[in-house]
Amino acid sequence: MADETPKRPATRIVTAGRREEWTQGIVNPPVWRASTILYDDVAHLRRSGTQDTHHRLFYGRRGTPTQWSLADALTELEPGAEGTLLYPSGVAAVATALLSVLAAGDELLLADSVYDPTRAFANGLLKRFGVTTRYYDPMIGAGIEALIGPNTKAVFLESPGSLTFEVQDIPAIVAVAKRHGLATLLDNTWATPLLLPALALGIDLSILACTKYVGGHSDVMLGSVTAAPGHWRSLRETSYRLGQTASPDDAFLAARGLRTMAVRLKHHGESGLRTAHWLKARPEIARVLHPALPDCPGHDAFVRDFKGSAGLFTFVLDGGDEAARAALIDKLELFGIGYSWGGFESLAIPVDPDRYRTATRWQAEGPAVRLQIGLEDPDDLIADLEAGLAAFRTALA
Ligand SMILES: Cc1ncc(COP(=O)(O)O)c(C=O)c1O
Repeated sequence: MADETPKRPATRIVTAGRREEWTQGIVNPPVWRASTILYDDVAHLRRSGTQDTHHRLFYGRRGTPTQWSLADALTELEPGAEGTLLYPSGVAAVATALLSVLAAGDELLLADSVYDPTRAFANGLLKRFGVTTRYYDPMIGAGIEALIGPNTKAVFLESPGSLTFEVQDIPAIVAVAKRHGLATLLDNTWATPLLLPALALGIDLSILACTKYVGGHSDVMLGSVTAAPGHWRSLRETSYRLGQTASPDDAFLAARGLRTMAVRLKHHGESGLRTAHWLKARPEIARVLHPALPDCPGHDAFVRDFKGSAGLFTFVLDGGDEAARAALIDKLELFGIGYSWGGFESLAIPVDPDRYRTATRWQAEGPAVRLQIGLEDPDDLIADLEAGLAAFRTALA
């Protein structure tokens, strides 16, 4: 008899989304490319238009088994989810999720720590379509209740914030939102469902830039939204109306990446933490913003809600200027200089949160650098950072 004990996420991820009729025995779903789907006759075509197209070949924009398999795998990793849809980027996933819960006249509460293009979408397109946005301190917790007005419809969280790493009190915010009938959306790209099963915490829409850890190899752009039952229908409607679809080739790459995400995340997390501790002990560094460090805002919520760390964090230099920060980053040999994160390779970029914030003030002792810790040996990364800090000191002298 089959063992019915629920398997742990690292086990489920290996075969999640696999269906015999989609794979025919091939271990990962092959790339099914399609625009036209042919029908037997006119009656079949007409019938098809009146049926639910979920997981049924209808027209290429509604996907093929390649996309369905990845979407199902992501749903399986989020206990409590009804379904997942894929998008051509993380930003497209954020935008569509917001449009699925908002209408003209509504107000959105947006964490001050969110990824800048999420702000840009709210300040630009949402505003143009009559949705107002109110920014809130990511550390607000249950205090968010005071911001809720008659038109408030949704609360958007990003935890930790991907530049400044404040960890939000998700259960407290969700509890208030539920009492007021507000939708909750979380950009869960940092933790992924492996480190933070968001829907189990009561979040309605969990958003991933699959471009990062799911893809894992810096060669694909993709986003996903996983919805709780009450939000699945509207998410599908909105996605279909906007013509949102992800290419099967990109879904294939992300599905391939997903199979190894648990081991990669473990390595990113351990090496990231080791590097963060090393940096924290350095005299050139004023602060390390890493959720697993006790002085990170929201560290208690991190310990309570998360199952581990990812490999992205920021450090703040103790003094110095733009030129000294550039000298540090330019000196690094193992850290590429470029946007994005979640791939196998380490990256470093300058970050300036004061340019974005409006509800809270970013105060820092010096310029900040965000590190994506890749899959290299952490001792080599630390040696590289040591050389970078020496260049920083020389630039200051
Ligand atoms: C936290 C976060 N959310 C969303 C995105 C957007 O993802 P994409 O680049 O796939 O549009 C990013 C990209 O850097 C991100 O860091």
